[in-house]
Amino acid sequence: MQITITRPDDWHLHLRDGAALAAVLPHSARQFARAIVMPNLRPPVTTVAAAGKYRERILAALPAGLNFEPLMTLYLTDNSPADEILRAAGSDFVKAVKLYPAGATTNSNAGVTDLAKCDAALGEMEKLGLPLLVHGEVADPAIDLFDRENVFIDTVMQPLLARHPALRVVFEHITTKDAAAFVAAAGANVAATITAHHLLYNRNALFVGGLRPHYYCLPVLKREVHRQALIAAATSASGKFFLGTDSAPHARGGKEAACACAGCYTAFAALELYAEAFAAAGALDRFEAFASFNGADFYGLPRNAGTLTLERRSWTMPDELAYADGDRLVPLRAGEAMQWKLIG
Ligand code: NCD
Ligand code: ZN
Repeated sequence: MQITITRPDDWHLHLRDGAALAAVLPHSARQFARAIVMPNLRPPVTTVAAAGKYRERILAALPAGLNFEPLMTLYLTDNSPADEILRAAGSDFVKAVKLYPAGATTNSNAGVTDLAKCDAALGEMEKLGLPLLVHGEVADPAIDLFDRENVFIDTVMQPLLARHPALRVVFEHITTKDAAAFVAAAGANVAATITAHHLLYNRNALFVGGLRPHYYCLPVLKREVHRQALIAAATSASGKFFLGTDSAPHARGGKEAACACAGCYTAFAALELYAEAFAAAGALDRFEAFASFNGADFYGLPRNAGTLTLERRSWTMPDELAYADGDRLVPLRAGEAMQWKLIG
């Protein structure tokens, strides 16, 4: 069995920088025509000038023969000036601004401590139609880790949209039935990305026979009822849900540690993982809209030309991949069976 779809895009991707960038970029570029590139470098990408330089480093790292367009983002801080938003909207390569609540995830220390401090920037984004990409979790250590997305909806997202009703918002990597329902009920200016791992796994995956750090990401995997709601959203006729891998490489040593880094590396076979989730739901006919149409339509960008074909065929995910500086990178599903293969 085969399925052919319009060439897809990845609307949420971590590419890192330097040697790590060179190691992971070919995996994404093989599958995706474009990707929204996250700005959580050290230091974070907070200006259009820095985003432009990062974009050039990405293009320089791209192997010959691969076509790939990095769509850049700015990292919102308490001090992001409205001017910078104006410059971003006027550039042809910055497509969004990313909100990391301070302390919520990897490299988020420079993130926003209080959205009220960003009101001028947010007002400018609302006026200019520049999307805000939201890591939708509160960082308060007193809130149960599994409830942080829910609490974010009530205490941050709702008030944000009440203050800026026309702001274009992508609720990134949603993980709960509550977030899926919130996005479905919100206006056309609110959409969401969903990762392959949140479609394929529930939180049990973290504890199969022992602690499994390669299944640890933020927002963390949730209960089965939530995974099922994400499947329903991704395979629904709504155009509000689209593909965003949140593929987040960390060296093997950073993952297999007493304090393991958050992030799943899915870019090596992202499309194959998503195809498996859609096939299991009996919804392969919805795969193209989710992977190739809905995101482009939301961002107001043209759909891609060209197609990709996947075949139902079993293969084994490598145990590890080459990464920066002699380090190794363990992909999600390492050493385990895969059901779909990209064949052209
Ligand atoms: C991401 C990373 O490693 O940069 N990690 C993750 O678990 N998703 C950061 C993020 O998107 O939260
Ligand atoms: Zn991410």
